[in-house]
Amino acid sequence: MGELWRLLKLFAPYRGWILSGALLALLTILSNFGLLALSGWFLASAAVAGLGGIATQNLFNFFTPAAGVRGFATVRVVSRYLERIVTHEATFRLLSRLRSWFYARLEPLAPAGLQGYRAGDILSRIVADIDTLNNFYLRVFTPFLVAGLAALIMAGFFALFSWTVGLTLLLFLAVAGLALPLLTERLGAKLGREMTNINADLRVQLVDGMQGMGEILTYNAGPVVRAHAAALNDQLIQRQGRMSVITGWGSAGMGLLTNLGMWCIVILAIPLVVHGHLSGPELPMLALGSLAAFEAIAALPLAFQFLGQTREAARRIFAVADQPLPFADAPGPAPQPRRLDLRLTDVHLRYADSARPALDGVDLEVAQGSRVAVLGVTGAGKSSLVNLLLRFYDYQEGRVQFGGHELRDYPGDNLRRYFAVVSQRSYLFHSTVRDNLLVAKGDATEDELWEALAVAQLDEFVRAQPAGLDTIVGEGGVKLSGGQGRRVAIARAILKNAPWLILDEPTEGLDPVTEMEFLRDLQAVMAGRTVLYITHRLIGLEAMDRIYVLEDGRVLESGDYATLLRRGGQFTRFATFRGAFEALSAPQS
Ligand SMILES: Nc1ncnc2c1ncn2[C@@H]1O[C@H](COP(=O)(O)OP(=O)(O)O)[C@@H](O)[C@H]1O
Ligand SMILES: [Mg+2]
Repeated sequence: MGELWRLLKLFAPYRGWILSGALLALLTILSNFGLLALSGWFLASAAVAGLGGIATQNLFNFFTPAAGVRGFATVRVVSRYLERIVTHEATFRLLSRLRSWFYARLEPLAPAGLQGYRAGDILSRIVADIDTLNNFYLRVFTPFLVAGLAALIMAGFFALFSWTVGLTLLLFLAVAGLALPLLTERLGAKLGREMTNINADLRVQLVDGMQGMGEILTYNAGPVVRAHAAALNDQLIQRQGRMSVITGWGSAGMGLLTNLGMWCIVILAIPLVVHGHLSGPELPMLALGSLAAFEAIAALPLAFQFLGQTREAARRIFAVADQPLPFADAPGPAPQPRRLDLRLTDVHLRYADSARPALDGVDLEVAQGSRVAVLGVTGAGKSSLVNLLLRFYDYQEGRVQFGGHELRDYPGDNLRRYFAVVSQRSYLFHSTVRDNLLVAKGDATEDELWEALAVAQLDEFVRAQPAGLDTIVGEGGVKLSGGQGRRVAIARAILKNAPWLILDEPTEGLDPVTEMEFLRDLQAVMAGRTVLYITHRLIGLEAMDRIYVLEDGRVLESGDYATLLRRGGQFTRFATFRGAFEALSAPQS
């Protein structure tokens, strides 16, 4: 129950909406009960009066009960309508509260704290589990609250006429509303859990399959993937079938108990009428009223079903939300940096799940306004430097000073303002060119967008598209070439207009000609900025003020291009590779 209590506390800001919705639902049920009970009494009384001859007919007051019937019928309709409006409004408010609450928990965890989850799994939690949680209010909380209150009020009303009849109604309501649903819920609990899990698996499968569509088609793996999804689907359908059998028996039981309850009440009430404890017309009033009373608990079987699902979803959501932060963000206020110099002294960074440190005692300096390169083979620890600078991961030992303050003292959001990053993996959202640019500066004007595109040398291409800035780039930018995608990333960097520019293998995956053009156009962006250029190739390094050669998380040597070349250390290995490569690719004569 702990999870549900937490859920209720999350909903607390909307308790006004929640309680008004419940109150209107209660009013609807009570007016339906009133309508039927009064009608039963009214019809019987009218019949009795009719049998009694003209005198009694004239004495009988038709008008008050008739007005009551109309009143109840009107209230029922109006309150049901208002109930729908209020509960739907409340549902949407709760949904957005839940989503933003979960997102706020998720964001500081990314990326270090979410490494253990697959993308589809997180998606499934955000979409499906939050939707399920949202059922809690409409389908669990409100029905239970309303059923409890309505049952007590209606049984109390019957008890005014006869204690035994009142208690009998309460007993039947309890059996039909609590015992029966608990039984079916117990029978279906394991199925429900399995269905939630299969659903989640299926979603992961589908998202994964979509993302890997290219590979699947190329390697003809479609049938295997399809068979796997079909198998999961079959499992799901099979369980849904078994669940329907259980719910079917549940509703049959409910119908049986409703009618049995009415009969018991009639049988109990007849002697009371015979002995004069009840008037004749009160008998049909009790009978019809008891039928209406069961409306109060009609939603409970579903509520019990949702109760199980909701608790499962709540457990899954809270499990992610309760993950300890990988490291604490600086509380602020943000330090005021002086010159934006960077100095790393004996820095060690180890990822949580790896045996060997990615950065193993790195010393490195980048003065404001200079251009510094970090050169190293794959796995040397270059991107880990970026992860460290952007506070995606924390360093365990050593000092990192940025602008004269320890990097740790900057809140991550504040720190990231100083850096624009262009990398091989700069992500393009499945949206328009415009939206992809606005990521960097939400309030950029049309002119600013075009200026950025011009510096990135992408303006002509975008202008040539029929939709212009509103051209859809496709998922992950599939509708753009590699070079164009990278240029969108550059335009973003320009829009952000940060004093530092980090380039993490920005030309990786581009062909040599595009690469040369791209590097040339990058010069315009580098102008006036501090540049950290990360690469595993020598191309473009001549223009750098200083080059650090990184291997296995350690700096092997550093210096400018000419010095390193003269020294003949590890750096020349890269130079030799390049020489060998150029010799290989030179046209043979
Ligand atoms: N998120 C991560 N979690 C665990 N290990 C990582 C992570 N990122 C990188 N590594 C490991 O750290 C080492 C350095 O990686 P990285 O900094 O990405 O190298 P580079 O960018 O030079 O190719 C590698 O051994 C890599 O496997
Ligand atoms: Mg890398």
